[in-house]
Amino acid sequence: MLVIDEGHILDVAVDKVFRGKGVGRMLVERALQDCRENGAEFVSLEVRISNQSAIRLYESIGFIEMGRRKAYYENGEDALLMEYIFDSGEVGRNAV
Ligand SMILES: CC(C)(COP(=O)(O)OP(=O)(O)OC[C@H]1O[C@@H](n2cnc3c(N)ncnc32)[C@H](O)[C@@H]1OP(=O)(O)O)[C@@H](O)C(=O)NCCC(=O)NCCS
Repeated sequence: MLVIDEGHILDVAVDKVFRGKGVGRMLVERALQDCRENGAEFVSLEVRISNQSAIRLYESIGFIEMGRRKAYYENGEDALLMEYIFDSGEVGRNAV
């Protein structure tokens, strides 16, 4: 989703059979590229604080933790708010 200069990733999911093969990284990097090409200055997302595999994926791409949203999910779990800030035209593992 893109609103003015902010991209927002709502959901990322890879079928269990295909996890651990770089598909999640490819999907997120492609979403970043699309946002960048359409004028985003940064991209944000929320992730469950317990979701270590997703947090590692986002961190390895260059997302940084910006804060927490208390009881964001229906079960009362907090969300980590993460952002990727564009500072070059390139998107990828070491691009920030
Ligand atoms: C999170 C998810 C999208 C990752 O997709 P994936 O295709 O398995 O991820 P990739 O193979 O591209 O992995 C990229 C990086 O993510 C991290 N990662 C992925 N799976 C991991 C795991 N089980 N444990 C730790 N780190 C993991 C690693 O840093 C990995 O980099 P590396 O391969 O260089 O070590 C997938 O596990 C998924 O669909 N989970 C269920 C839905 C979900 O939780 N979505 C996120 C909601 S915000």
